[in-house]
Amino acid sequence: MTPTRTIRSDEVARFNRLAATWWNRTGPMRPLHVVNTLRLGYVLEQIAERFGRPVGELQGLRIADVGCGAGLMCEPLAACGAQVVGVDAAANNIAAARLHSKAAGLHIDYRIGEPDAVLQDGEAFDVLLLLEVVEHVDDVATFVRDAAAHLAPGGLLLASTINRTLRSYLAAIVGAERVFRVLPRGTHHWAQFVRPEELEQAATASGLNPGERRGMAYLPALHRAWWTRSLSVNYIASFGKPGADLAEPESLLNRPTVTSSG
Ligand SMILES: C[S@@+](CC[C@H](N)C(=O)[O-])C[C@H]1O[C@@H](n2cnc3c(N)ncnc32)[C@H](O)[C@@H]1O
Repeated sequence: MTPTRTIRSDEVARFNRLAATWWNRTGPMRPLHVVNTLRLGYVLEQIAERFGRPVGELQGLRIADVGCGAGLMCEPLAACGAQVVGVDAAANNIAAARLHSKAAGLHIDYRIGEPDAVLQDGEAFDVLLLLEVVEHVDDVATFVRDAAAHLAPGGLLLASTINRTLRSYLAAIVGAERVFRVLPRGTHHWAQFVRPEELEQAATASGLNPGERRGMAYLPALHRAWWTRSLSVNYIASFGKPGADLAEPESLLNRPTVTSSG
C-alpha cells in the first residue's frame, strides 16, 4: 500500500465496513446523528459570527469537511448554499455520501483520500471542519497542518474530538461501547484521544489563533446530547486564521478559561 501521511489503515478499514449503515439514524452511527444536530447549530452560529452574516446563510462560502464520513454535515451546509468539498479516506463512505447527496438533489464535491493528497495546491476554503476525526488519524499535528494549509486568510477552522481523560475512558469506551453498546466495539482507542491543549498546539503551529472551546455531553441511554462547560469528554474548538480584512470576533479574542480534567 502507498505510504500516507495521516491515514491509519485499520481505522479506515473499520469505517469502510460501516458505510452502508451511515445514514441509518438508529444504526451504529446513531450517536453521530444525535451530535450532528447539536454541532450543526454551533457551526452555523460560528460561521455567522465570523463572517458577519445571518445564521444559516452560507451562499458563496467555500467549506471543506475533512473526514466527512458519508456526509452528515456536508449535506445541511450545502442545503444552506455553501460550496462544499467533503474529504474522506474511506472510499465506501464517499460512495455512500455521493449516493445520498444525489438522492437529496445536492451538489457536493466528494473526494477520497487524506487532505494533503486531495486538496489541491492553492485551493483555499473559508471554513474547514475536522469533526470527530483527529482521534482517528495517524499524526494529529500533520493532519491539522495539512488541512489548515487550505484555510483562506480570515477563515475559520472548527474541530471536535474526545479529550484523553479518565472520564472519557469511562464514558466513550466503557459506557458507549461496552455497557450501552451504542457504538461498535473498537470505535475508539483511548490513547488516540486528543487533549484540548494538544489540538490547540497543532492549530497554533499551523498559524491559527485559538478561539472558543465548548464541551459536549452525550447520554447513551437516552441518545441525548447537549452543551456543557466541561471539556473532559467530547468538545469542539474554534480557530481563526488571521486575515487582511476581518477583525477577530469577540469569541476568538476573549474566551473564558475552561479547564479540562478527568
Ligand atoms: C468518526 S468518523 C466522523 C465522520 C464525520 N466527520 C462526522 O462527524 O459525521 C471519522 C471519519 O474520518 C475518516 N478518516 C480517518 N482518518 C482520515 C484521514 N487521515 N484523512 C481523511 N479522512 C480520515 C474516516 O474514514 C471516517 O469516515
